[in-house]
Amino acid sequence: MKNVYDNSDFFGEYQSMRTKEVNANNLIEIPIMKELLPDLTDKTILDLGCGEGGMSKYFITKGAKHVTAIDISKNMIKEAKKLNPSPKIDYLVLEMEKIDTLKKKYDIVFSSLAFHYVKDFYKLISDIYKLLKKDGLLIYSQESPINTCPVITDEKQKNKIEIDGKTYHLLSDYCNEGAREVFWNGISVTKYHRSYATIVNTLTQNKFKILDIKDSYASKKAIELCPKYVGQKDKPYFTFVRAKNVIKSAKYDR
Ligand SMILES: C[S@@+](CC[C@H](N)C(=O)[O-])C[C@H]1O[C@@H](n2cnc3c(N)ncnc32)[C@H](O)[C@@H]1O
Repeated sequence: MKNVYDNSDFFGEYQSMRTKEVNANNLIEIPIMKELLPDLTDKTILDLGCGEGGMSKYFITKGAKHVTAIDISKNMIKEAKKLNPSPKIDYLVLEMEKIDTLKKKYDIVFSSLAFHYVKDFYKLISDIYKLLKKDGLLIYSQESPINTCPVITDEKQKNKIEIDGKTYHLLSDYCNEGAREVFWNGISVTKYHRSYATIVNTLTQNKFKILDIKDSYASKKAIELCPKYVGQKDKPYFTFVRAKNVIKSAKYDR
């Protein structure tokens, strides 16, 4: 199923996970995404896979001029309009696969934990490049490639071993890119595994200059609130990218 967030059971489970104060989004992912943002004053922003619109609203509170926020899920857009409304945000039900239908150009394209749901990463990055103004920024997070790689059917299946009290994670199928069916919140969810090499090459082949690639880490405070997050040092949950569309006329050999 492509649009799992419109399955009511899945959506209910997702919402109850996100409303808990202690979760990896609040304590790990969102703080790093905020660190990667520039001054947002008067910026126009496209938020891809905006979910309930928490970050879209945050951009407005930080001075952004306008946000176009899209999501494939009608449930998500309905909640976003209810929970995070603003006359400066347009919430649209739209797939990332169809952003080439958008007419505006943006200072920033932002996406939090949604790109691993898209099969054709090359087209997505190429479409984003065309939607950015010159010197525009792409800032996104996704599940880390070292997390998406194993071909397992149950997310709870432990893909790790203990030796002398230390946990070692098993890395498999890293170079075997493509769809992964993961059982999550009671439903089979399709995500796409891509290696770091593919991520970097896709960005540079589409003329992006990569400014930052980060693995997730947990702050001292996050580890105090949730001790298992110390494991981010062994196996980070997320990968972050910040890239700029500066190379307008570069010629490539390929
Ligand atoms: C893990 S949630 C993250 C939501 C939000 N960005 C946040 O961080 O709170 C992933 C979101 O991506 C959306 N999504 C998944 N595939 C999509 C697609 N092909 N096009 C647009 N949105 C998509 C889902 O509906 C969901 O809202």
